[in-house]
Amino acid sequence: MKIGIDQISFHTSHYFVDMAELAHARNEDPNKYLIGIGQKKMAVIPPTQDSITLAANAAAKILTPENRPQIDTVIFASESGIDQSKSGAVYLQSLLDLPRQVRAFEVKQACYSATAALQLARGYIALHPDKKVLITASDIARYGLGNAGEPTQGGGAVAMIISKDPRILAIEEDSTVLTENIMDFWRPNYATEAKVDGHYSGHMYVDFFNEVFAAYREQSGMTLANFAALAFHLPYTKMGLKALRSILPQATEADQQRLSANFEDSRQYNQIVGNLYTGSLYLSLLSLLENTTTLKAGDRLGLFSYGSGAVSEFFSGILQANFKQALLPEQHQKMFAARQQVDVPTYEKIFQQQLPTDGSTVELDLSHDPAPYVLAGIKAHQRQYRKQ
Ligand code: CAA
Repeated sequence: MKIGIDQISFHTSHYFVDMAELAHARNEDPNKYLIGIGQKKMAVIPPTQDSITLAANAAAKILTPENRPQIDTVIFASESGIDQSKSGAVYLQSLLDLPRQVRAFEVKQACYSATAALQLARGYIALHPDKKVLITASDIARYGLGNAGEPTQGGGAVAMIISKDPRILAIEEDSTVLTENIMDFWRPNYATEAKVDGHYSGHMYVDFFNEVFAAYREQSGMTLANFAALAFHLPYTKMGLKALRSILPQATEADQQRLSANFEDSRQYNQIVGNLYTGSLYLSLLSLLENTTTLKAGDRLGLFSYGSGAVSEFFSGILQANFKQALLPEQHQKMFAARQQVDVPTYEKIFQQQLPTDGSTVELDLSHDPAPYVLAGIKAHQRQYRKQ
């Protein structure tokens, strides 16, 4: 039985900051951010959006009267969770008016957890072929103002429906995985911004990729010639390029050209959004599928998932007949085109507008946020969500 991604969508906030402007404000050469980091625009997330509303806004784009009754599992993958106890998936069930007869839960392992959710969903559908699983991968990447991590921030959510006979990508049974306890990036409970050993994290990303890909080659007997394209977790797009370049010497000239050209399609959306942690690999997959003019049904894609701390996985999927028809490029382009650019002082102000953590009541001004699902404030220690 084929099992995989039947639908996929993306949502981000309506604000962005231009990376060349940010570079000027930080006394850096713009090409460091544009070429060295590989980012053009960075999503700026206002306080009226959090990991729950971003996920709801993404998921609403792919829920239909037909698929709703079949969804019996909702998995919220995030490292920007809003509660130590209650899962984000329960909020989604209610915000999205999903049936009460769903199991709803949250998974966490840095940027890797959406891949864990995808693999769990595959196993679940194998036992329950008539069901569908809704996965959201939703995060806000925060390092702080004026530090080295700043140009690699961003935020947003990818939503996916996993089912049998998927219309987009059938996931193959061939993963290789690797877990090792390292301190490259983490966020203690008391911190609103990530702790990161930046250069070390980049080296570990490439090392983990090389190890899982070598294991994959050995296990499957496949080489780069078997892949039409590779999609990477993209904390910033140069990171994926470094991983790709590390294995290109294994490929023929023609394979190198194909994989490099497809990598450019796979980073277009990430370049104008920034990091969304759990969702970044799947935003890159979406970017590849919605921007490609060469990929066709039957092509094999390789996917590399990396979550600091660290867990990584390499796996593959086969593009399905008419996959383009199941995508939403017009909706995504419209969302990107409607975003408003904010200047650096405005971005800094928004960045610092953190919700109180002492339990006090707050009411947020919703008049600037056009998203269907918004956070209206906090009252009696409870987040107040609205559909508008
Ligand atoms: N023109 C072109 N390129 C330039 C340039 C210019 N004028 N000036 C600098 N560059 C290049 C540098 O040569 C460098 O390229 P290489 O990486 O290929 O060597 C690149 O720009 C970045 O320069 P620096 O290394 O000097 O940048 P930095 O030290 O200020 O910070 C960073 C870079 C370490 C990635 C930092 O942004 C950071 O810590 N980011 C967060 C951590 C991160 O994203 N890690 C990724 C792996 S972990 C992961 O994947 C999980 C996750 O999502 C976080």
